[in-house]
Amino acid sequence: MMFLLFLLLLPSVFCLICPEGYFLVNESKCLKMVWTKMGHRDAEDTCKASGGTLVTIKNAIDNQAVYNFANQGGVDAIWIGISCFGNTSSSCFWDDASGSAVAYNNFPAGSIVAPCTAMQISNFQSLQGKWITRDCYDYPGMSMLSPMPFVCEVPPTEKPWSMAGCVNNYNRNCYVKSKDLMGTGNAVGTGTNADQTCKLVGRNLPSIHSKMEVDYIRNLYNGTNTTHVYIGGQAGTGDRFNWLDGTAWDFNYMDPLNFQKGNCLVMDVQGDGLWSQVDCSQKFEYLCKSLIITDPTPAPLTTKNPGNPKIDSAKELKLPENLLDASNCNSTLLLAPGSISSFGYPSAPSSYCTWQVRALGPYRLGIYFDFWATYGSLNISDQYGNNIGSFSGTYNRTPFPRYTPFNIATVTFEPRPKTGSGEDRGFHAVVLMI
Ligand SMILES: *[C@@H]1O[C@H](CO)[C@@H](O)[C@H](O)[C@H]1NC(C)=O
Ligand SMILES: *[C@@H]1O[C@H](CO)[C@@H](O)[C@H](O)[C@H]1NC(C)=O
Ligand SMILES: *[C@@H]1O[C@H](CO)[C@@H](O)[C@H](O)[C@H]1NC(C)=O
Ligand SMILES: *[C@@H]1O[C@H](CO)[C@@H](O)[C@H](O)[C@H]1NC(C)=O
Ligand SMILES: *[C@@H]1O[C@H](CO)[C@@H](O)[C@H](O)[C@H]1NC(C)=O
Ligand SMILES: *[C@@H]1O[C@H](CO)[C@@H](O)[C@H](O)[C@H]1NC(C)=O
Repeated sequence: MMFLLFLLLLPSVFCLICPEGYFLVNESKCLKMVWTKMGHRDAEDTCKASGGTLVTIKNAIDNQAVYNFANQGGVDAIWIGISCFGNTSSSCFWDDASGSAVAYNNFPAGSIVAPCTAMQISNFQSLQGKWITRDCYDYPGMSMLSPMPFVCEVPPTEKPWSMAGCVNNYNRNCYVKSKDLMGTGNAVGTGTNADQTCKLVGRNLPSIHSKMEVDYIRNLYNGTNTTHVYIGGQAGTGDRFNWLDGTAWDFNYMDPLNFQKGNCLVMDVQGDGLWSQVDCSQKFEYLCKSLIITDPTPAPLTTKNPGNPKIDSAKELKLPENLLDASNCNSTLLLAPGSISSFGYPSAPSSYCTWQVRALGPYRLGIYFDFWATYGSLNISDQYGNNIGSFSGTYNRTPFPRYTPFNIATVTFEPRPKTGSGEDRGFHAVVLMI
């Protein structure tokens, strides 16, 4: 009896809870079954809308738990959150930016032949619980060729001990919009005022540590007229920014085509969520963020953000490559974020180059050309060979972006003879997942 009681109490010690519609599975994962059959891209977008991804599975216990969770109502197979860009598990990457599937995977040997992944649920050739790669069939119309139900995952969060509650509770943090903070009061402030007001209520302007957090914040402003909000970035030395709440600058989402300088940062909450430097005296709405305190005994406020254990592993994302220079020319795989440039940049381009550019499964690629002074020819195509952009014949181009419809693109560049007086200095582009 005592033993049973202990088991029942155990969960409340951690106070882990899930957002509405999600179930806490195995005391560690917040999962939601979506029965509507969708193509892979639509499934990812559905999960993204609540700050999540398709389910990620890092060990055999979780695999069994996800299998059990999905094994209801005659489901045949479900999409899971891993994308493969080659034929080995080391080229398969988790949606949540936690790295590759080398440490754990459940692919039958030699079965990695396509970019999207499903878990087999029904008994088909005894493959229950195994992972099967499939074409993503991302194009509108094509998605109906392989629709499947799927499981979404969001990070578990905690219940605040205070009954004051937390309306926007995500990944162990509470977010409050300036509009809600002061009742009907002033929703806008200068960068300095915004920071002070957040501090007055025991919060900070937000530090942002992942693409998932960017998406969560964008969704808070979906359907509003708010275009930009102050976030907690503060200019440090040189071009570096720091987070006002003292957490590490472990994720960067600066707009590569914003050349304005300033000591404060705003986030574009109606666009892709990119961050731009602004003068701190400008007035914007803002967002406050605080760690959820679950224990009423005053604990020292740590400056580390314990809600993001995944961040460190994000550094593993880049595959070892035999790079010749900073251009990434002919790299076998370039997983965003990263950059590409003509070989020899900023000197005259001296080589034909191709780049295999990829984003994690839930995202698209933003290719931001921040420098172009070349006679060369550059093409971008998606995985189905569709042209996303052809650039040649214009020596000087003002900075411009190109967005891919999916997460896979091939870029090719070929130097061409000079046809004008300008010196050929090649091109440079920043690649982000959006
Ligand atoms: C997690 O799930 C597995 C498989 O369903 C189960 O065997 C295990 O007991 C679960 N662990 C917890 C803590 O619930
Ligand atoms: C490797 O994967 C590609 C698709 O990414 C597939 O066309 C090819 O057949 C696979 N090769 C092997 C040896 O499995
Ligand atoms: C905003 O909300 C609408 C309606 O709920 C939804 O259809 C749309 O996809 C959302 N936009 C984004 C960027 O999430
Ligand atoms: C957005 O602005 C328009 C025009 O100013 C207004 O009619 C609308 O009510 C506003 N919507 C919200 C959600 O505030
Ligand atoms: C890149 O590959 C192309 C063709 O595959 C080759 O012609 C070119 O020399 C390579 N460039 C570099 C810098 O290795
Ligand atoms: C880009 O596409 C155009 C038109 O198809 C072609 O003429 C050109 O050679 C291509 N350039 C590269 C670098 O692939």
